[in-house]
Amino acid sequence: MTAQTERLSSSLLNEADNEFNGLTLALSKGRILEETIPLLQAAGIELLEDPDASRKLIFPTSNPKVRVLILRASDVPTYVEHGAADFGVAGKDVLLEHGANHVYELLDLQIAQCKLMTAGVKDAPLPNRRLRIATKYVNVARAYFASQGQQVDVIKLYGSMELAPLVGLGDLIVDVVDTCNTLRANGLEARDHICDVSSRLIVNHVSYKRKFALLEPILDSFKHSIAAF
Ligand code: ATP
Ligand code: PRP
Repeated sequence: MTAQTERLSSSLLNEADNEFNGLTLALSKGRILEETIPLLQAAGIELLEDPDASRKLIFPTSNPKVRVLILRASDVPTYVEHGAADFGVAGKDVLLEHGANHVYELLDLQIAQCKLMTAGVKDAPLPNRRLRIATKYVNVARAYFASQGQQVDVIKLYGSMELAPLVGLGDLIVDVVDTCNTLRANGLEARDHICDVSSRLIVNHVSYKRKFALLEPILDSFKHSIAAF
């Protein structure tokens, strides 16, 4: 093994180290990563490598006590809940759907803002029977329609919800909406507003107690950044 490969494998081992006793932050690629990076920078935390240019999933940062995991957005609460990550950033939509337990939702970071809505084919009347709702937000959809006193059948999807009503898979969808461009581009229209969505900082219950000294300055810096934006 050359000195260079030895250094590389030892640094990879450190990043993946189960004994790592600093803070592990769970993020997802895309808008959450992009919009969280400025908050991290303000807290003096820089990713040492660009996750968009790498296949790696664990990233060291300029703060040796902080490393970043890059996950699917919907997996962030699971990692934080089980303590595999100490804290993370997840959309309120994901938290409502997941029903996050054992985590504190400490801060509304006011990033990745959108709305959870129902939507259907433009100008199409709803059928006079039990409605079918196509969505990846099955728990949110059930709870919302129950709150309206409506029993519905929910069809689980994993993405591209806008397609479903166009081909008869469901009468309505439940999805996040921002500009409505995706709905319009597919001949759909927004119907009911379920709730506003933004990303939240979540922290594992045990980490909050045991690692408070490490977490506190980061939480304070995030709070200042939110107030300043
Ligand atoms: P997964 O990979 O688990 O399917 P995803 O594709 O929904 O997740 P992103 O598209 O990166 O992941 O969205 C992450 C979060 O950003 C969502 O949970 C939601 O809170 C928010 N979000 C989604 N779409 C928009 C949008 N168009 N505008 C603003 N925020 C959005
Ligand atoms: C999200 C969501 C909608 C779209 C809504 O998709 O699933 O399709 O944004 O935003 P709009 O109202 O501004 O059009 P995203 O852009 O995250 O792509 P994805 O389907 O790959 O997650």
